[in-house]
Amino acid sequence: MNQRKKLVVGNWKMNGNKASLAEAQTMAAGAASVSPFADLAICPPATLAGWLADTLKDTGVALGGQNCHTEARGAFTGDISAEMWADLGARYVIVGHSERREYHGETDAIVAAKAAAAARAGLEAIICVGESLGQRDAGEALQVVGGQLAASIPDAIAAKPFVVAYEPVWAIGTGRTPTAAQVAEMHAAIRDGLRARIGKAAETCKVLYGGSVKPENARELMHVENVDGALVGGASLKAADFLAIAQACS
Ligand code: 13P
Repeated sequence: MNQRKKLVVGNWKMNGNKASLAEAQTMAAGAASVSPFADLAICPPATLAGWLADTLKDTGVALGGQNCHTEARGAFTGDISAEMWADLGARYVIVGHSERREYHGETDAIVAAKAAAAARAGLEAIICVGESLGQRDAGEALQVVGGQLAASIPDAIAAKPFVVAYEPVWAIGTGRTPTAAQVAEMHAAIRDGLRARIGKAAETCKVLYGGSVKPENARELMHVENVDGALVGGASLKAADFLAIAQACS
């Protein structure tokens, strides 16, 4: 029996507007009922971050960013630093999401630099890894994810808390999920990779599963060994679904 409390993180991606604040309020109101078995966090788009920081303050729901720059400040139009997220009261920042890797050309080295920036700012990076369908079908999933993990964890972070999220690219937004056995195999491999990299701290490092997590499949996925919570996209936009996923961690 491990001591890792489950963590359920909502990644709103490029969704939501002022009307979404009501959903966040409902999530905050429901956090107490799931708090015995799951911590919650929401990563809103930057336009809503200030409002959510106020809405979520002193509730059971933490705030997170969806991305950060590697530098603390400077002439980087459109970017947000880890220090800025920390200033807003955020606890987490997602780095290396597959959508950033694919659409913004983020390499493992960039992801590692962003994770180091998060640690520098006192945030917990949520470092995302995951294979494509082609890589899965070619039998390369373990090797690809192992390589991403090793190269995306910066040396600077080793002594600080961070989170890993395994998100198979082919499961994101598709309604498809890996089998429980596939998730168990990958999460065990990630735990081993963490042990090799950060030693005993690997036992407290949370490894989330992400990709088409819904209320209907959450109970099975959240009870797979070495799964310490979920990184939820579409189903995190509705408070009822998000809270139902957290409830499924019980
Ligand atoms: P979906 O839950 O919409 O598949 O998205 C998963 C994801 O990418 C979370 O970061």
